[in-house]
Amino acid sequence: MNRTRTNDRSARSRHGRAAAGKGGSRTGSQAPRRSDGPARSGGYGRRPATVQGEFELPRTITPALPPVEGFAELDMPEHLLTELGKQGVTAPFPIQGATLPNSLAGRDVLGRGRTGSGKTLAFGLALLARTAGQRAEPRQPLGLILVPTRELAQQVTDALTPYARSVRLRLATVVGGMSIGRQAGALRGGAEVVVATPGRLKDLIDRGDCRLNHVGITVLDEADQMADMGFMPQVTALLDQVRPEGQRMLFSATLDRNVDLLVRRYLTDPVVHSVDPSAGTVTTMEHHVLHVHGADKHATTTEIAARDGRVIMFLDTKHAVDRLTQDLLNSGVRAAALHGGKSQPQRTRTLAQFKTGHVTVLVATNVAARGIHVDNLDLVVNVDPPTDHKDYLHRSGRTARAGESGSVVTLVTPNQRRGMVRLMADAGIRPQTTQIRSGDEALSRITGAQAPSGIPVVITAPVVERPKRSAPSRGRRRPSSATRRAPVRQTVLDAVA
Ligand SMILES: Nc1ncnc2c1ncn2[C@@H]1O[C@H](COP(=O)(O)OP(=O)(O)OP(=O)(O)O)[C@@H](O)[C@H]1O
Ligand SMILES: [Mg+2]
Repeated sequence: MNRTRTNDRSARSRHGRAAAGKGGSRTGSQAPRRSDGPARSGGYGRRPATVQGEFELPRTITPALPPVEGFAELDMPEHLLTELGKQGVTAPFPIQGATLPNSLAGRDVLGRGRTGSGKTLAFGLALLARTAGQRAEPRQPLGLILVPTRELAQQVTDALTPYARSVRLRLATVVGGMSIGRQAGALRGGAEVVVATPGRLKDLIDRGDCRLNHVGITVLDEADQMADMGFMPQVTALLDQVRPEGQRMLFSATLDRNVDLLVRRYLTDPVVHSVDPSAGTVTTMEHHVLHVHGADKHATTTEIAARDGRVIMFLDTKHAVDRLTQDLLNSGVRAAALHGGKSQPQRTRTLAQFKTGHVTVLVATNVAARGIHVDNLDLVVNVDPPTDHKDYLHRSGRTARAGESGSVVTLVTPNQRRGMVRLMADAGIRPQTTQIRSGDEALSRITGAQAPSGIPVVITAPVVERPKRSAPSRGRRRPSSATRRAPVRQTVLDAVA
């Protein structure tokens, strides 16, 4: 397999990158300032002021290789191609067809593609293909994927695990809220690829459990979110430790000026693939604004939650999430709360229960807004309207993924109307606006709303994932360690081979 890079990067030095970053940087290298606005406890605590505004795409100097229409045209290990077939991934999505020829050749990539358009495999296949055949030394991974949230780290690990296994690469997931000792152990054992949130990775490096000087490929998924969350200083500190001549890829559905610094300093002559400007152009997604009176909002929300089928409901604060979840449970709706105030095992269990259908309503802060993929999720409800159009696009993007269709409903009280009009204009969306009340036929037509049973429910039983057996065992007891295994998949390290 040809791993020759098409651009000569040997002349590039870290110093050169830094210089490039300084030259005309609009963001500077300081941490984004903390917002003076209202506290958002949406899982992240207060959110730093975002440096928004139109993002200027960098210019590509070396022309990009042409897109491919089939995976077989790509310079990828045979085992990866076979695994794609096994996973039922038969043809590349546009962002994959466009970026993979270049990323497989070692080019830096800046990829902006709609929510649910397949960015994970776009960067994941390139990283795995180019790392295949190499073996990591203890504590010295070869590839790094940085993501903003723990759930996303786990999801990226899960999505890439079958492909990594097919080429005998070991993945380690490094996130906060879980045993650092176990994560250190996995790194000591050797992991070619680390999927990490920045804070925990820094902790492991500080402890001497990880070094990035062998990392030749670095991916930033949802880079703008990491910047919004105030992770920029950590992200740049980590990027300064990876191999200076290595490959970097930056992917997100939205990019704004707060990633300027990353792009200028850390991407060299990147191939740019930008499907859309930052607009809500997923054609299979319907957008509804439902005007509702404040006094009727709670009843309306409850009826929507009682629909048949899944729904994710976004609210601004942890407290509001907990309160609505409890109210829904009291009304007979199988709801569960996800926010940054929950322990990581709770967060993992809740998401797993939502994915299996054990709970039908996920009530969440923005911690669930980015990257999370749940099959057959056809409705997203903004119980609290999002703060800005980026949040709107990412929250919405939990539905209508990979060509499926779905609806996004935002409940808007009279005093929120003007702000919502502006937000929709910023997002490039023309929603269908309807005045509704609880019990309305229109509400039920748009969302499937119905009256809840009124019989309180308690979500107790955890999801039990037992290994499937082809035939019932007779007389042989399973080893007790297997039966004692935690009922829900471990959040970290389960993908380590
Ligand atoms: N080539 C393909 N063929 C079929 N399904 C695919 C293909 N590529 C990706 N998918 C599926 O599409 C879904 C969405 O992919 P993914 O999570 O990578 O989207 P994304 O672009 O990262 O979205 P977001 O911006 O929300 O993070 C996943 O279920 C994934 O398995
Ligand atoms: Mg993604």
